[in-house]
Amino acid sequence: MSSKPSILVTRRWPQAVEQVLSERFETTLNEADLPMSPAGLAAALRSHDAVLPTVSDRLPADLFSGGGLKAKILGNYGVGYNHIDVAAAKAAGIVVTNTPGVLTDCTADIAMTLLLSVARRAGEGEREVRAGQWSGWRPTHMIGAKVTGKTLGIVGFGRIGKAMAKRCHFGFDMDVVFYNRSRIDPAEASRYGARQLETVEDVLKAADFVSLHCPGGGENRHLINAERLAMMKRHAYLVNTARGDVVDETALVDALRNGVIRGAGLDVFEAEPNVPEALRELENVVLLPHLGSATEETRVAMGMKVVDNITAFFAGREPPDRVA
Ligand code: DGY
Repeated sequence: MSSKPSILVTRRWPQAVEQVLSERFETTLNEADLPMSPAGLAAALRSHDAVLPTVSDRLPADLFSGGGLKAKILGNYGVGYNHIDVAAAKAAGIVVTNTPGVLTDCTADIAMTLLLSVARRAGEGEREVRAGQWSGWRPTHMIGAKVTGKTLGIVGFGRIGKAMAKRCHFGFDMDVVFYNRSRIDPAEASRYGARQLETVEDVLKAADFVSLHCPGGGENRHLINAERLAMMKRHAYLVNTARGDVVDETALVDALRNGVIRGAGLDVFEAEPNVPEALRELENVVLLPHLGSATEETRVAMGMKVVDNITAFFAGREPPDRVA
C-alpha cells in the first residue's frame, strides 16, 4: 500500500505535468483521453483521495450524494468551475480549487483573434481560398468592418476583461466601456483605458463590439438573450470566450440570421462539444473549439497550479486557489 494520496486525472494533461503528478501521488491517468461518464466520475469520487476534473466533466449535485465519498479535494484544471456544483461539493466536505491568473493573456488573445476574424471576415475568406473559389482582388470583395478606433464593450472586468481592454485600447485605439457587478476604482479602470457604465444594457447600447468575460452559470445563464441582443447596434459584433451558457444560443442564431447584429465570434457553446447546425451554417460567425487557454505555456502552467493546490492540501496547508 502506498502512503501517497491517490489521485485521478480525468483527461490527458501536458506530459510534464502528468510526470510531476505521477512522482508525487498515486496517480491514475486517463491514457485514452476519453471523456468520463457520470458513473465513472461518481466511482472516482469514491475510490480516490483527489479527482482532477476539467470543463469537459459534469459534476452535478447528485454525484456527491449517496455517501461513500473518498475524495477530499477537486483540483479543477481551469479557472471556470461552473461544471461543478460547488455548493454540493462543499456540503459533502470536498474542497474545490481552480487555476486563475495563468490563462489571462492567452484567453484575451483568443477574444482578440475572434474579434478581428469576424470583423475582417477571416473565416469566410479562408473558406473561399481553400475551396479554390477566389476569383481575384476587387474593390468590393468581402468588405468587413474597421476595428481601430471603435468602441469595445466588456461584460465582466476581471483579469481577462482587463487584458482584453488593454489590447483594444492601447493596441487598437478603441474606446473601452465595461459592466462589472462590483464598482471598479476609476483610476484602476483608466490603467486599462476603460470606464465603467452602470448596466449591461448601457454597455450593449454603446458598443460596436461586445466581449463577454463573466463567469458562466447561475444568474449569468442567458445574460445575453433576445431582448439584450436587440439592444445592440445593428452593425455590432458579439464575442464570447467566457462560457456558452452566458448567451442564449437560439436567440443568437435568430439575431445573426435576421441582421439584429452583424456577426459573432464564439469560442464556447451551450452544449460543448455540440455546436448547433444552425450556427455552423452561418457565414457571419467565427467558431473555435474552446481554445482560449490552448497554448503550451498556459496549459502547462494550469497543470502546475493544480499540482500546487493539491500538494498544499495534502501537506495540510491552505491551497492557494481554493474556491470552496
Ligand atoms: C477555463 O479555464 O475556464 C477554460 O475555459 C478551460 O476550462
